[in-house]
Amino acid sequence: MSEAKTPFLSDVKTLRERAKQHLGRGAVTSTYTGDVNKTIDLLQIVLATEIVCVLRYTMHSIAATGISSESVKAEFAQHAKEEQDHMNAVAERINQLGGRPNFSPEGLAMRSASQYVEGENLVDMIKENLIAERIAIDHYRELIRYFGDNDPGTRVMLEGILVVEEEHANDMHDLLVSHEGKPMLGR
Ligand SMILES: [Fe+2]
Ligand SMILES: [Fe+2]
Repeated sequence: MSEAKTPFLSDVKTLRERAKQHLGRGAVTSTYTGDVNKTIDLLQIVLATEIVCVLRYTMHSIAATGISSESVKAEFAQHAKEEQDHMNAVAERINQLGGRPNFSPEGLAMRSASQYVEGENLVDMIKENLIAERIAIDHYRELIRYFGDNDPGTRVMLEGILVVEEEHANDMHDLLVSHEGKPMLGR
């Protein structure tokens, strides 16, 4: 079996020959060493998490009221837009791997790692968003470690998303401090 002693770098001829095999698998080639079905299942959870984040931030950007709510609303709206970018990127990745992105509203809240909480007032909203961001950060960090070198494409996508979630968490933390005078969650 030539596969057993495959050199670290394949030559162009081998690359071309391999690429012609299993064209139906699209982006999933023989050097993909992850479990593609498991990857798709994990990404469906990430997709649901991002959809819930889009919904929650959008709701907050419209419903927030109170002193200085206009600037906070603008921040929520900006986050909603960035969560939508994440949603699209994850859905694209599921599609590249041969899966069907699950956008079904049925069971969405159950699939998502973070929760949809409306929040009674501006401070509650900020807190709920901070909690959701912290859940996403923990979850994505674990996934990045899990994918490692077996699926660098998925890992790099998640690393890009993680950086933005960390910014989001920091933004929510700063808003909380400016509205409450102290952080509500230990850092
Ligand atoms: Fe996100
Ligand atoms: Fe976020």
